Amino acid sequence: MGDPHMTPDQLLEAWHDQQTAFIEFREMRTRTMVRVLAHLQSGLDHPIRVLDLACGPASLATEVLAAIPGASAVGVDRDPILLRLAKETNQFGERLQIVDADITDPTLPEQLGGRIFDAAISATALHWLDPGELVSLYQHLPRMLVDGGVFLNADHLYYDQRTQAGLDALAVSLRDSFQVNHMEQGAMSWDDWWQAATTMPGWEKDAQRRQQVWANDHPTVKVSTGFHLAALQAAGFIETDQIYQWFDDRIIFGRLA
Ligand SMILES: C[S@@+](CC[C@H](N)C(=O)[O-])C[C@H]1O[C@@H](n2cnc3c(N)ncnc32)[C@H](O)[C@@H]1O
Repeated sequence: MGDPHMTPDQLLEAWHDQQTAFIEFREMRTRTMVRVLAHLQSGLDHPIRVLDLACGPASLATEVLAAIPGASAVGVDRDPILLRLAKETNQFGERLQIVDADITDPTLPEQLGGRIFDAAISATALHWLDPGELVSLYQHLPRMLVDGGVFLNADHLYYDQRTQAGLDALAVSLRDSFQVNHMEQGAMSWDDWWQAATTMPGWEKDAQRRQQVWANDHPTVKVSTGFHLAALQAAGFIETDQIYQWFDDRIIFGRLA
């Protein structure tokens, strides 16, 4: 039985706390992405339009909309519970639209009605994709972006266990100890959060659909920073770099011609 007193806003707050347990400097990472987008906005003659890929409860889009007046965002995800949470906690009305779609689906640009964006962003999500799906997503991104459009992806891109074993062990150790500490201070574990979310009163159908959506979920092969940069370059992003790093937590940047 879920906590009957948990409102969608409390569930969202618990999500952020739970995610921060995995990412010690999540706020810093988000702030870095927002700063890049604010800079991009300063060169535009219209309010920036942002696509948040695998948005979950629209975590990143929400920060962008709060920071950049007039900005609009479309968040895409396929998890029924997180989509519902995003919709029920939307503070931005029509400035934030939430779309139920699979970001690996090659028809995503059509599902978004052919809309184009100034920037596509993603956080803590693309490691869920197989390398082939990631390359395919990058190949389709230019169809959803303006010329000169920007892509930002914040995620754990792990060290190579063969050639960077010491760094890998250090990163894992730092992450584990932060997580234990953070949970001792009250953050929910991933499993506890999902237990609470899927037993929200009135959310039973979303919980059922969630099981169907992820029925064929499987572990994915992890890829490196170099892989992301090469895949972006092959897709037409002419300026690429890793613009932020704290051990294996990184932000990948790409700009189209
Ligand atoms: C750890 S959550 C991160 C969510 C959000 N970006 C955040 O930072 O709070 C990973 C998200 O990726 C989404 N996701 C994974 N694979 C996806 C796919 N193929 N299409 C759409 N969303 C996907 C999941 O549903 C989940 O919301």
